[in-house]
Amino acid sequence: LPTLKEAYRNFFPVGVAVAPRSLTGPEAELIRQQFNSLTPENAMKMGPIHPEENRYFWQDADAIVAFAQQNNFKVRGHTLCWHNQTPRWFFTDAQGNQVSREVLLSRLKQHINDVMGRYKGKIYAWDVVNEAVPDTGTGIYRRSKFYEIIGEDYIEKAFEYAHAADPGATLFYNDYNTENASKRERIFQLLKKLKNKGVPIQGVGLQGHWSIYEPTVGELETSIKQFASLGLQVQITELDVSVHPKEHERRAKKPTDTSELTPDMVVKQAAQYKMLFDTFRKHKGTLTGVTFWNISDKTTWLDNFPVAGRKDYPLLFDQNYQPKEAFKSVVTF
Ligand code: G3I
Repeated sequence: LPTLKEAYRNFFPVGVAVAPRSLTGPEAELIRQQFNSLTPENAMKMGPIHPEENRYFWQDADAIVAFAQQNNFKVRGHTLCWHNQTPRWFFTDAQGNQVSREVLLSRLKQHINDVMGRYKGKIYAWDVVNEAVPDTGTGIYRRSKFYEIIGEDYIEKAFEYAHAADPGATLFYNDYNTENASKRERIFQLLKKLKNKGVPIQGVGLQGHWSIYEPTVGELETSIKQFASLGLQVQITELDVSVHPKEHERRAKKPTDTSELTPDMVVKQAAQYKMLFDTFRKHKGTLTGVTFWNISDKTTWLDNFPVAGRKDYPLLFDQNYQPKEAFKSVVTF
């Protein structure tokens, strides 16, 4: 069988989200063999990289970028402005009071300048703003601290700062549940507004935290086509296919509690991955990258999520780093 990067050589780079500890040993071997793009899973987020106002922690992010340079990988930067994993200091002054719009904007600008500046020319694409649209309701803007303190233009400001910091980088808005009709529509409204205002944004990241039950091919294609109609490139930025029924669980509040990987799940997962990659290939040109969120089923953020104690098996390699049925269904076409 071909490797992922061989199979997709003429389509798009195939990436993986990593922690620095994966850059040595058997995981590093698998990464070098299969992939040609890296995303730091946590190391470039505000909290980890900028723990205090005048202190950066570069070590982990540097290690990932150095590995990428040595092995000729592309890097996607993740992420410059997000409501999660952002330290408290960002929003407060020395007395613990909430800062003004002007102060928060200048902190955001400084942060973007410093982080993008350090890796200028080494990171080809950045998730500038992450998950700014709420899951439910009719609104476009999540009520985050950035929104509350700055107002809705924090998003365009972030993109403007990013473009100024590294004009060569491709700038993305990144979100999840992008196949949900209501959320898709609200993300579309946001992106349309940005494009109409001339904001420097070139891409949209569909995170792709999916399952063996969702999305359908119709839902996926609608999202790709609708976002592409704005002249944006589309990337799948955080792909995994849970063997548990996520949307159903959220609605019914009745999680499956099995940690067992059943033969039925294996078959369904291979079919779902095949559908996804058939669709990605079909949209070659529009779809300019696919990144998996973690390497193998040995370590995935979905373990214990949203059900404590429950294991998940969302990736193409098993807990011993061996290719699964789903891997075969992705590399043979
Ligand atoms: O770094 C600390 C460590 O010092 C401490 O000992 C340990 C104890 O719990 O926690 C460590 O931090 C954890 C971090 O992952 C690194 O392992 C955080 O608690 C934990 O919350 C964090 O989770 C990350 C999550 O984002 C945070 O929201 C996941 O690894 C990461 O996969 C996940 O990724 C997000 C994307 O960035 C955005 N889209 C959704 C996606 C999945 O949630």
